[in-house]
Formats: sequence, structure tokens, C-alpha cells
Amino acid sequence: MNYSYVSHLYCPKCSKKYEADVVQNLCDCGSPLLVEYDLDSLKKDWKKSDLNGRENNLWRYHELLPVKDKNNVVSMGEGMTPLIEMQAIGNDMEIENLYMKDEGIIPTGTFKARGAAVGISKAKELGVKELAMPTNGNAGASWSLFAARAGISSTIVMPIDAPKITRNECAVSGANLYLVNGLISDAGKIVGEAVKEHGLYDVSTLKEPYRIEGKKTMGLEIVEQFNWEIPDVILYPTGGGVGLIGIYKALKELQALGWIDEEKMPRLVAVQSEGCAPIVKAWEKGKKESEFWNESETIAFGINVPKALGDFLVLNAVYETNGCAVSISDEAVLEEQKLLSQKEGTFVCPEGAAAFYAARQLRKNGWITEEEKVVVLNTGAGIKYPNTVEVDVQVLEKNESIQPANDRTAKKL
Ligand SMILES: Cc1ncc(COP(=O)(O)O)c(C=O)c1O
Ligand SMILES: [Zn+2]
Repeated sequence: MNYSYVSHLYCPKCSKKYEADVVQNLCDCGSPLLVEYDLDSLKKDWKKSDLNGRENNLWRYHELLPVKDKNNVVSMGEGMTPLIEMQAIGNDMEIENLYMKDEGIIPTGTFKARGAAVGISKAKELGVKELAMPTNGNAGASWSLFAARAGISSTIVMPIDAPKITRNECAVSGANLYLVNGLISDAGKIVGEAVKEHGLYDVSTLKEPYRIEGKKTMGLEIVEQFNWEIPDVILYPTGGGVGLIGIYKALKELQALGWIDEEKMPRLVAVQSEGCAPIVKAWEKGKKESEFWNESETIAFGINVPKALGDFLVLNAVYETNGCAVSISDEAVLEEQKLLSQKEGTFVCPEGAAAFYAARQLRKNGWITEEEKVVVLNTGAGIKYPNTVEVDVQVLEKNESIQPANDRTAKKL
């Protein structure tokens, strides 16, 4: 058996094929490229039971990942994050079977580690020495740290308003870091020019084909954790949409392998912010592509992407699964984040909170029914965004006393 069954790259727009053994970016037609595997051979060679006893991280699916030589794997144990039952918040929303896939405990604190682990490992295999990327923060943090582990140098450009901790993560990794007075789209233009001038490997969202492969492991894990049963709905906070495209691709591949029901797909929900909702707008109009969202703004920084290169792939996944796209206000995000901490003890990132609020809204309007099995992706840890919580706490003098949380007077009487 081969370590990987990768066969080639292909263009989802014009079907042109490309070799997977050399550095590739976009198709000549401008579309992102996707990775194809020799699924016929893999179907014969690979059984679900082969996973038994394998390492409990995303590399357990190495046959369906693009790295050919195990020695090129750059890993910090990422993946196989918990799928947690959310009974209290589920009761509150009247969803009986609500689960959270919690990406907050993965190395670097967000699911971006998955794309970085696979993307960097493949870059190492292809002999890349220097990469460049624009980022909303979390991806830059993951990629620069995994690059450091691989001995690859990185140039990162992020908006000045990106979460401060992600700036620090890039800096501490030794990345060549710049801040831009603008959005990720502005950072992207600056990186694009540097790539042209200096020949760096461009790992912008979907400009290299392997980040999706890392993120698709969320889909593989969800169904393995459900013992190869398909949930009814998966909600995903969507910026560039890589995770959603990845989950859809993972499920299609598992169908081709015969590992899951060939008919059933979960309804995929793209969740965005009211301050940046290009995919939602396109979906509402039944369009195949989105339009640039002017002056976008939201506290859910990771989903502040005014125009995604893979928008047509996100929309296709939503249409093909009878899913939908919804936008959430920042106010609702903060409310939901607080409620999740208080009812479930989980401090989720604002993007994750947006996806939970979307589940609440879709249950309220009947799009989700009470007994459906619903999975919400919490894409990162709340502690990466300390400024989303405002705290007003009493400071004590040394001789002052405190009161218990619960009033004891009733007991005393
Ligand atoms: C925490 C978090 N959630 C969601 C996203 C959106 O990811 P995607 O590009 O896969 O849509 C990001 C992207 O930066 C993020 O940092
Ligand atoms: Zn093409």
C-alpha cells in the first residue's frame, strides 16, 4: 500500500489536469485547483478497520492526503478534536441532538492548523524554501509556526485590526511579518506583487491546492466519530470557505470509497456576519458566484472576507446539499458566546458563536427540526479573542471580605 493515493490536480472550472509532483498554484483559467486521488485503487486497498489503532490525529487518513512520503509530514498532533454533545444549549434551542466539533484545542488554537499541517508538509515535499500569504490572523499564525517547524521561511501580511495574539504568534515564529492598514483583500494584493517580483510560493487561501486537504479532515473525523453515520446538518462559519469546500469534498470521497451512504449528504450551512455576507447575498439570489462586499466589518474577524476566490465552490456545496447561507449580527454573536460559556462551559471564538446562533435561528424558523442531528463547527478558541469579553470586576483591599456566588440567607432561616 502507498502512503498516499494522490494522483493529480484538476480544475473544477475547466477540467484541465496538472501534475501533483511540482509546485502549482491556480489553473491557467484563474480557478483554484483541487486534489484528485486514485479512489478506485484505494477502494480495493483500504478498509475502515485499517484505521483501528492508528494515531489519533488527522494523519490517520494519510491515504486520502497528498503527502507521499511519511518523512515529509510536519505534525504537532493536530486533528481528532472532540465532538461534544451540547445538551444544555441544545435544550435551549430545542435541538435534541446538537454537537460541537471543537477546534479550539488544536495546536495554535484554531482549525487553521489542519490546513497548515497538510499544506506545509506538502510544501516541504515539493522542496519549497520560502512562502508568502495574506491572512486575517489565525491562518498566518498556524502557517508561520508550522513553517518554522519545517524549516521554511514565511512572509505574512495581515490587517492591522487582526487579533493581536495572531500577530504575536507570527512574530515569535520568526516570520517576516507586515501589518496593512486595510483588509485581507488589501493584504492579498501586496502579497501578490511580492510573489511576482521575488518568486515566493504563494499560499494565499485556495491559491495552493493542499490547504483544503487538511481542512477536509474535519469532515472525515465527524463521520468517523458518528461511526460513519451522516449528520443532518453541519454549520460552518464561512470566510474563504475552505473548510466547507473541504468537508463537502471529504464526504464525496467517502461516498466514492463506499464508506458512507451514497445518497445522503448533510445540509451544509454557510454562516457569515451581517457586516460581511457576500456568500449569503449570492445564495439568496440563486447566483453561482459572489460579488465583492464593500466596507466589510465584523468582530468575527476570521470571516471578514469580502470576496472569496472559491466562492463558486462554496455555493455549489450549499446548493448540492440543499443547504443554506445565513448572516448573523455581531450583537447576536456576543450574546451566543456568553450563553455558551454559561450553559456549557465552552468559551468559543466569535466565528463559532455565529454558527451556533445560526443553528438557533434556523431551528426557530423550522429549517432545522427538533430531532435532527446538528453539528456546529467551533473553528477556534475564545481565548484567542480576549477583547470580545468586557469585564468589570471588583478589586478588593487586602482586608475586605467576599460573598459566595449563591445567596445563603434562605438556608440559614
Ligand atoms: C476562527 C476562524 N473561523 C473561520 C474562519 C473562516 O475560514 P474559511 O476560510 O475556511 O472560511 C477563519 C478564517 O480566518 C477563522 O480564523
Ligand atoms: Zn481551469
